[in-house]
Amino acid sequence: MSFGAEFEQRVDALVAKYPEPKAAMLMVLWEVQKDKGWIDPESEAWVAERLGTSPAQVHGVVSFYTMYKQKPMGRHHIQVCTTLSCMLRGSDELMDHLKGKLGIGEGEVTPDGKFSLCRVECLGSCGTAPMFQLNDEYHENLTLESVDRLLDGLD
Ligand code: FES
Repeated sequence: MSFGAEFEQRVDALVAKYPEPKAAMLMVLWEVQKDKGWIDPESEAWVAERLGTSPAQVHGVVSFYTMYKQKPMGRHHIQVCTTLSCMLRGSDELMDHLKGKLGIGEGEVTPDGKFSLCRVECLGSCGTAPMFQLNDEYHENLTLESVDRLLDGLD
């Protein structure tokens, strides 16, 4: 498996910043996800070999952090924070609303590939709860109405 010379150069530059290759794992996995859109077992094996560790260790990292996608997700990937502040400010209701609106459950993708939905732990925006991350952007102080407006306006 090969990601190409430009990708390998980016990985080499990342690895060079750390005292040992394994310490660059989060950043290298992020590069893989940027390149492929998700992290498949073949990529985990490639990262393990490149960083001198086992595929099991790489998979442990990928499966621990919700920022890493273990399967292809929708074009608009919604990550709903359901930790304490967001929960107290209605994240359960928000999640139920999204499931009903999109017709999918947690970890699922709409049949047209437009949306995917998942539950995540605190995203560090507790003062503006409830919130979710839509692709790379935070949306805060959400109401069911503001969520509908936002999602209805997406292509
Ligand atoms: S509890 Fe939701 S952002 Fe912190």
